[in-house]
Amino acid sequence: MTTFDPTGDTTPTIPSTAENGAPRESDANSLSVGPDGPLMLHDVALVEKLARFDRERIPERSPHAKGSGAFGELEITEDVSQYTKAGLFQKGAKTPMLARFSTVAGELGSPDTWRDVRGFALKFYTQEGNFDIVGNNTPVFFVRDPMKFPDFIHSQKRTPDSGLRDNTMQWDFWTLSPESAHQVSYLMGDRGLPKTWRHMNGYSSHTYLWVNEAGEKFWVKYHFLTEQGVEFLTNDEADELAGLDGDYHRRDLFESISNGDFPSWRLEVQVMPYEDAKTYRFNPFDLTKTWSKKDYPRIPVGRFTLNQNPVNHFAQVEQAAFSPSNLVPGTGVSPDKMLLGRVFSYPDAQRNRLGTNFNQLPVNRPVVETNSYDKEGSMEFFHSGNAPVYSPNSFGRSYQDAQGPVDNGWESDGTLVRQAYTLRSDDDDFGQAHTLVREVMDEGERERLIETVSGALATVIEPVLSNAFQYWKNIDQEVGERIEKAVRENAGDQVPGADPRSE
Ligand code: HEM
Repeated sequence: MTTFDPTGDTTPTIPSTAENGAPRESDANSLSVGPDGPLMLHDVALVEKLARFDRERIPERSPHAKGSGAFGELEITEDVSQYTKAGLFQKGAKTPMLARFSTVAGELGSPDTWRDVRGFALKFYTQEGNFDIVGNNTPVFFVRDPMKFPDFIHSQKRTPDSGLRDNTMQWDFWTLSPESAHQVSYLMGDRGLPKTWRHMNGYSSHTYLWVNEAGEKFWVKYHFLTEQGVEFLTNDEADELAGLDGDYHRRDLFESISNGDFPSWRLEVQVMPYEDAKTYRFNPFDLTKTWSKKDYPRIPVGRFTLNQNPVNHFAQVEQAAFSPSNLVPGTGVSPDKMLLGRVFSYPDAQRNRLGTNFNQLPVNRPVVETNSYDKEGSMEFFHSGNAPVYSPNSFGRSYQDAQGPVDNGWESDGTLVRQAYTLRSDDDDFGQAHTLVREVMDEGERERLIETVSGALATVIEPVLSNAFQYWKNIDQEVGERIEKAVRENAGDQVPGADPRSE
């Protein structure tokens, strides 16, 4: 077993060297023919330095490019062993962890305070392997089928011609994807502008599986509730900060931890008995829906605290690879189609972004010994020496050969189809969005939502604009009417929805 060392290497104490370890003569002067003469190709120090500089940037994350994070510890304070046997969730367990917070659509250098959903990614270095929860600051999502995810992200990023972000494109996708209504209502509400990362909740959003020692299964949703209190920015504050300090959220987290003001979140879970999923009034695996807290109250589990900044942002945050596929015994995925798509997509993205052996980097490497028959590939560092490279083998390298039902699986049967989940009595796209806008939000937040949406629709062209008015009326008739009125009033003498390119 290796020791967990989140701080990585410390500052070198020897004079600088070339990459082969030999002393370097100068970090400041190139080798030239006399002080005024041309440079030498065999100046290894210069060539190496420029060549490495040319290769410093790696691809940014496709979504969630801009973010930062910190290390900390999860402590379990309650007994939830009746639901899961996972070691990290046993009462008294303390597990080192990494958290990374992010925006979704902006690029690496984009301002932290642009309105967006925020990523809330957690990696736990457990004694049973790494366990990740890669969630957001909202409990639901825009789509329910992974086939639509790339199109969703394309609509939030930039147009092909101008390279600009474009409200028409965003609202076109949303209004033609009515299952987005719940998440769009969250995004246009206060949650779209958290004051800092410390002042927001996190959610697994998806339903996962828990399995206890007796093999009994439960469906579970994770909630991380900020102990700093939930706070938001207004549109004006966020716009101003975007200009003054694009790294406002990154700075806030780093400085808080540097100052010994360690942020913490309570972990609570909603647990649904395994059999309930078959008859619940809507499909509990549909990522556009929340489970009622009346039906499944939150159960306290523990809390995590972030108490250690990265010492090297690139090595420990940029190269961190979070994935919902990182599961440990006692946990599992559910039939949520989005989650099943993500389980493939993350490690695949990371093989591309970081290289085949990204799991060998210190920040991603499990703290437990590994014995995998996967081998070689670019930059292999840890290897199995001269041990057999295949299983089964007769020469002592252990391998597994379990057969039969897996303990974190579920039953499934049916004809292969391409369609959304089977509809149940409470399955509709606008119902929970309506409850959010009408019952959860107070008049102040509704007012701010109307201002935000009508501002965003100011540049949206037809037929998308009319579709957007109808979309909001489907969510809430009165809110829809107020949005339409505000857009028309703001347009003044202009015709709202006119395409400026046709003038
Ligand atoms: C990042 C794909 C849905 C939260 C990413 C990345 C990919 C991706 C490829 C970049 C990974 C990397 O380069 O390390 C997908 C696909 C989805 C999906 C295909 C749907 C089928 C979601 C959902 C959530 C989410 C539903 C939240 C509940 C995140 C977060 C990150 C991320 C927080 C940033 C992780 C980090 O901090 O490194 N996603 N995503 N994604 N995604 Fe998703």
